[in-house]
Amino acid sequence: MKVLVLGGTRFIGPHLVRALVSRDHAVTVFRRGHTRAELPRAVEAIVGDRERDVTALIGRAWDSAIDLSAYTADWVRRTGLILHDRVAHYTFVSSNAVYSDQNLHSWTVEGDAVHDPSVEQLTRLRAYGAGKVAAERAAEELFPGRLLTIRPGWVFGPGNTFPPSTYLAARAARGGEMLVAGDEGAIVQFLDVRDLASWLVLQIEAFATGLHNLAGPVPQATLGDVVGELSRAFGTRVEWVGPEWFIAQPERHTLESLLFWTDQRDDTAETHRAGFLHTMRNDIGRARQAGLVTRPGAETLIDAARWLELELGGVDGQESRSRASLWPRSTEWEHILDVEQSLLSRRGRLRSPR
Ligand SMILES: NC(=O)c1ccc[n+]([C@@H]2O[C@H](COP(=O)([O-])OP(=O)(O)OC[C@H]3O[C@@H](n4cnc5c(N)ncnc54)[C@H](OP(=O)(O)O)[C@@H]3O)[C@@H](O)[C@H]2O)c1
Repeated sequence: MKVLVLGGTRFIGPHLVRALVSRDHAVTVFRRGHTRAELPRAVEAIVGDRERDVTALIGRAWDSAIDLSAYTADWVRRTGLILHDRVAHYTFVSSNAVYSDQNLHSWTVEGDAVHDPSVEQLTRLRAYGAGKVAAERAAEELFPGRLLTIRPGWVFGPGNTFPPSTYLAARAARGGEMLVAGDEGAIVQFLDVRDLASWLVLQIEAFATGLHNLAGPVPQATLGDVVGELSRAFGTRVEWVGPEWFIAQPERHTLESLLFWTDQRDDTAETHRAGFLHTMRNDIGRARQAGLVTRPGAETLIDAARWLELELGGVDGQESRSRASLWPRSTEWEHILDVEQSLLSRRGRLRSPR
């Protein structure tokens, strides 16, 4: 098949492009050329800007288009008005940020409220969610009957520098005793980018349509399951501390942004527990019925940490490449381990008999 990828060069894009090429599809990427990626040689790259100039798409035709790069209805319309009668199938990559009710226990695609795209939203997350709702609706108007819309939650794996996607495995690989704060029983959801790519390619080959939440791991895992897998993989001992104890520690700021369950919104235990976990409530029944399979969560985290280690030239020592956006740097590691050690000893002192 001839497949157009709108985007394709940052994180999800390169994995998707490689998965398409490995299945012998002819891939064209459309992007500005600001973001560099190592894509297979066979990939055609065309240049344009969804903000202002999309003329490079005129006069071309593809069997399928995958829209990874739109955050607003305008962007979907600008390219969609050219593409709507030039592609047989369209995939819009949306997000679970479309769901407006943060208190629901599970987000389903069947009727859960989404943000109102007509209202000017105040926070960044909501603006992102509202923009995606508007973009989804524009795609529905332009590609009726041949649209696949996916709403992924967190997507992790090689290429993602978001700290919680790399910290736990990178820390477990260092051995010794590791402090993990949070609820062992909390459900965690993150989808391996490679599993997303493989699943999406199969959907595209089948010209599948409809709306799906996407998340992993499948089967569902708790934080305790994933940390247990990491601990066994590296022989690292784990000391669990509950959110209430952790939040009361003055040094917590060093570690909390690396963990799954906090988003630093405020200082109450309840809100911290809600943290990232409120975005890990996707009902993925439909995607599972449509064949979604994933690798174990720990494998995703380990591979993401290994990728980061290679990018940095070794998390332990000298960084051969200086990329400001990448984390962690070796100096930060020293600080993190010091803080962890002092928390572990305080915890130990509290436990030891007087
Ligand atoms: N990562 C997650 O956890 C997650 C979760 C849910 C949903 N998503 C969704 O996944 C999609 C993005 O994933 P990704 O960033 O990894 O995709 P990607 O396709 O790998 O990267 C984004 C692409 O957009 C291109 N681009 C940016 N601005 C552009 C413009 N004005 N005109 C044309 N092209 C432009 C970039 O190239 P240039 O810079 O060279 O233009 C780049 O190729 C987004 O829609 C996001 O909402 C991600």
